[in-house]
Amino acid sequence: MRAIVVRQFAGPIETAEMPTPEPAPNAVQVRMEAAGVNPFDLRIADGFLEGAVPHDFPLILGVDGAGTVSATGAEVTHFDIGDRVVGRFLAPPVGHGSFAEYAVLPENAAIVRIPAPVPTVAAAALPTAGMTAQDLVDAAKIQPGHKVLIVGATGGVGSFLVQLANIAGGHVIATARAADADRMARLGAAETVDHGLAPVADAVRRSHPDGIDVLFDLVSTPEALADLSGLVRTGGAVYSTIGAADEQALRQRDLTGGNIESRGGAAELARLLHRVADGDVVIPVQATVPLSQASSVIGAGGARGKTVLVI
Ligand SMILES: NC(=O)c1ccc[n+]([C@@H]2O[C@H](COP(=O)([O-])OP(=O)(O)OC[C@H]3O[C@@H](n4cnc5c(N)ncnc54)[C@H](OP(=O)(O)O)[C@@H]3O)[C@@H](O)[C@H]2O)c1
Repeated sequence: MRAIVVRQFAGPIETAEMPTPEPAPNAVQVRMEAAGVNPFDLRIADGFLEGAVPHDFPLILGVDGAGTVSATGAEVTHFDIGDRVVGRFLAPPVGHGSFAEYAVLPENAAIVRIPAPVPTVAAAALPTAGMTAQDLVDAAKIQPGHKVLIVGATGGVGSFLVQLANIAGGHVIATARAADADRMARLGAAETVDHGLAPVADAVRRSHPDGIDVLFDLVSTPEALADLSGLVRTGGAVYSTIGAADEQALRQRDLTGGNIESRGGAAELARLLHRVADGDVVIPVQATVPLSQASSVIGAGGARGKTVLVI
């Protein structure tokens, strides 16, 4: 089968012919139709999980993916051949990812059936970014009227987060360059701040001198996050998805939150998919790209929503 691999950490990303994986007794084999791209894919290729989890090389990249169950192990009870499914293909050892024509996953992993109204390509864009956004909103306990600043709002996580924070009743202030301000407004942002024009903290301090209640930061360095945290009122919450929060400093200022690692499983994925099927949440697919062009989009900056590889 065709797959997108690296042969060593930080090696070139290439298309390779790999053996088709067979499902273990407790696993399903999925004929992949689409795979969502995340910044995490390049971090895995660069060795982010080296030493923490075993890796197999050539290492097939990709975490998020969707397709059709093409074979089931003898002990599988929850899935049948032909089921349309979406999942996070990150069962150890690392290296058997979703950027391939076939992938396998234990049936008790983060894999669920796709509800009928949700297209397979859209579903493939959901797992990592959508569940991270859902985790953030759940953790922050947003109350109606809370002012919620989202820094890094225009990418994958942010495009879900704007929607979910708005649905939770937040007054969403989203960072966006001018060309993307309308899209942010349609997703539910009450205001946008152009991070390309001036420091976000200065602009928000001017427009909200009384401060904000929640800061979700998806991109800032520790120094920039510390500055932005100064906008948050006592008792408010600050979250970073990239480990930039100084949790001790937050507590000293009577702020909750900190660094968050998304741990969403099958139940959370199913819940989010049903919100999509009900029309409450839109999956923000920016671009669909053939699998053969994966190397041009893995790790590319300037995301506007999600990019999906079509297999
Ligand atoms: N902890 C976890 O469990 C977890 C889960 C998912 C993701 N993450 C991490 O969270 C981060 C965001 O993920 P993602 O999937 O949303 O990434 P993404 O799709 O690449 O989006 C990042 C967005 O941030 C914007 N941006 C970059 N620098 C900015 C700045 N200084 N101010 C405002 N916006 C800025 C980018 O647009 P421009 O370049 O045009 O500014 C882009 O739209 C990544 O580092 C990812 O690894 C962590």
